[in-house]
Formats: sequence, C-alpha cells, structure tokens
Amino acid sequence: MCNGAGLHFVVLLSLIGIATAESSINHDYFKYNPMTEVSNWMAQIAKTHPDVVTIVEYGKTYEKRTISLLKIGVKSEAKKKAIWMDCGIHAREWIAPAFCQYFVKEILQAYKTDPKMQQMMTNMDFYVTPVLNIDGYIHSWTTDRLWRKNMSPGPYNCSCNGTDLNRNFDANWGTIGVSTDCCSNIYCGTQPVSEPEAQAVTYFVGSRIEDFLCFLTIHSYGQLLLLPYGHPNFTASNYDELMEVGNGAAEAIRKVHGMSYTVGTSPDVLYPNSGSSRDWARLKGIPFAYTFELRDNGTFGFKLPENQIQPTCEEAYSGALHIITYAHDKTFNSAVATVAAALWTVLSAAAVTGNNLM
Ligand SMILES: *[C@@H]1O[C@H](CO)[C@@H](O)[C@H](O)[C@H]1NC(C)=O
Ligand SMILES: *[C@@H]1O[C@H](CO)[C@@H](O)[C@H](O)[C@H]1NC(C)=O
Ligand SMILES: *[C@@H]1O[C@H](CO)[C@@H](O)[C@H](O)[C@H]1NC(C)=O
Ligand SMILES: *[C@@H]1O[C@H](CO)[C@@H](O)[C@H](O)[C@H]1NC(C)=O
Ligand SMILES: [Zn+2]
Repeated sequence: MCNGAGLHFVVLLSLIGIATAESSINHDYFKYNPMTEVSNWMAQIAKTHPDVVTIVEYGKTYEKRTISLLKIGVKSEAKKKAIWMDCGIHAREWIAPAFCQYFVKEILQAYKTDPKMQQMMTNMDFYVTPVLNIDGYIHSWTTDRLWRKNMSPGPYNCSCNGTDLNRNFDANWGTIGVSTDCCSNIYCGTQPVSEPEAQAVTYFVGSRIEDFLCFLTIHSYGQLLLLPYGHPNFTASNYDELMEVGNGAAEAIRKVHGMSYTVGTSPDVLYPNSGSSRDWARLKGIPFAYTFELRDNGTFGFKLPENQIQPTCEEAYSGALHIITYAHDKTFNSAVATVAAALWTVLSAAAVTGNNLM
C-alpha cells in the first residue's frame, strides 16, 4: 500500500515535470519575434530537449553579439553527417528566422513519433542558425525595417554602414552582381570574407566540410529555389541532380497550399551574383546547396503579413524535408535516385535595384 502510494506520487511528479517542461515553451511561432525572444526561445529549446539539442556559439557579429546555432541530433560518439540551415543573413527578410524556429519545432516534434526522423537524427546532426545577421536584424526592428546588410562600417571615409553578407563569401567574390560602393545594398566588402558573420560560417562549416550533405540558406521573397552557381559562366557538376531534387521540393511545396516555386540557378531565374554563401558551400564540396526564397511574389514582399507565416512555414518545411530526405537516403540507403525528366521554366532575369533584391 505504501509502495503503491509512493509510486503514484512519483508518477504524478514526473507528469508535473513533463507538463512544466512543455508549457515553459510558450513561444508564438506565428508572429515575428524580436531577437531577445529568439534568444530566449533557443535557450528554452536546449533546456527542454537536452537529449538531442545543444547550443553552439560559433562567432561574433560586428557589434560583438554572439552568433549561435542549435545542434539537433541523437548524441553519439560516431562521426555523423550534417545538415546546415541558416536564416536571417539578410536583416529585413523576417519570414526567414520565423521559418528556422518553425523548422526546429517540427523536427523535434517529428522525432518523438516518426521513425524516419528518428533515423535521420541518428545518422545526421541538424545545425540551425535562426538569425545569422543579428546586428542587422535588430536594426530592422529598431531603426530601419528594410535594412538588409550587416552593421560594419564601410571602408575609410565612407558615409554608409553595412556589407551585404551574401556577396561577401569566397565564391567568385566581387565579379558579378555586386557593388563596390559601400552605400549600395549589394556592397561586397573590402575583400572576400571581410565580415565577421561571413567568417563565422566559413570557419565553422569549413572546419567540418566533409560532414555536410546539405547547405540550406533561407531568404525571402520570390518563391524560388535557387541552386549554384550565381555566376553564369560556371555550372555545378551535379546541376542535373540539383534541378531534379529542387523540382521535387517545389512539387512538395505545391502539395501543401498550392503555391508555386520556381527552381533554377540565380542567373536563370533571378539575377546573377557572386560571393553568396550557397555558392561557397557548393564550391567547397557540399553537394546539396540551395537558397530558399520564401513567400511572397511581391505583393507584400519583405513585409509579409503575420497571417502568412504559418502557411509559408508549412510548405517550406515540406520542401526542405524533401531535399534533406533525398540527401540522407542517397548517403545511408544507397538509394538510386529516380530520374524524372526535369521540367522547368527559365525566366528572364529580374532587374537589379535596391528595392527588390532578395
Ligand atoms: C573624405 O570625405 C570628405 C567629404 O566627402 C572629402 O572632402 C575628403 O577628401 C575625403 N578624404 C579622403 C582621404 O578621401
Ligand atoms: C554607422 O554606425 C556607427 C556605429 O558603428 C554609427 O555611429 C553611425 O551613425 C552609422 N552611420 C550611419 C550613416 O548610419
Ligand atoms: C563569361 O565568359 C565569357 C566568355 O569567356 C566572357 O566574355 C564573359 O565576360 C564572362 N562573364 C563574366 C561575368 O565573367
Ligand atoms: C509567383 O511567381 C511564379 C514565377 O516565379 C509563378 O509561377 C507563380 O504562379 C506566381 N504565384 C503567384 C501566386 O502569383
Ligand atoms: Zn535575401
């Protein structure tokens, strides 16, 4: 009798414990969250999922804020493969950090019940950076909603701040789709990887480059899945496979809410550029490197209304999972990829102006 009561007491305590752990994350995924809330959320996620989540600090921004990511996977001594995802390299693209938060929530939820996610988290670690350009993101909340770049000062005597981090990577740096005017929204910096935020990604990913199967970098807007390279004179060695997998992701996206995403290289479907993190990742050997340009098509642009956060995240999750699952199965199941005839539309490159740069 005493034992029975004691057991019930223990069960009750652990139920309270579970309820407390779950309810301590009262995070709203379907509004835009300022940086302090994103940071608090990261800490809560790590605290409530200590078995699979750790926070990794891997750099400092220009204004000396710590850049950190959530490493998510079954802890293991064995060497694992890895998936990279970063959001918020461009400050004003607020739907991107919202997506990273949603993505983390979804994979942690799926892990509890879905054998496929359990298998993937056993074989791979997910490295998710919810906000890469933290200084710029904060600036877009406090001062200038449409700020894009980081916050480092320009070269000597320049009257503007900020470098476009997605033109600063060591990938045909400075050759096309950039500006050397430090006031431009596509200012590429003084030299490749001059910016601390680009350095953080370059060193962290570069130091374990062999592990990474996917490099997914999340932007808005335009409803596009962009693949390497941004420079029109270079073609990825696995271009056909990148197109095929990208088209599969676009189809997965369409199935969720009927939204159409266009797949192709930057010069084919958007505009040519150089120095992007995606191109750097592919040049370094990461096979599946994609840029997601989330909703919308320009109606609201960077100021996507909050009532579109949920559907945008739902469809993009499906697209991202398609790419990740393909990369996983190709590596771990030696599954032969089904080759479907790739079908895509090549759109004329959009005009490059300061206001519609994605
Ligand atoms: C710096 O800028 C000022 C004002 O634009 C200009 O008068 C001056 O010549 C510049 N100095 C250098 C060294 O470029
Ligand atoms: C550039 O940033 C510095 C702080 O690093 C600030 O004092 C200055 O006002 C900024 N310049 C412009 C043009 O916003
Ligand atoms: C691409 O190659 C062609 C032919 O070699 C050359 O004329 C052109 O300048 C190159 N484009 C760029 C952007 O470098
Ligand atoms: C958005 O643009 C793409 C082309 O980039 C087009 O295929 C699609 O139909 C557009 N969607 C909407 C909702 O306008
Ligand atoms: Zn962008």
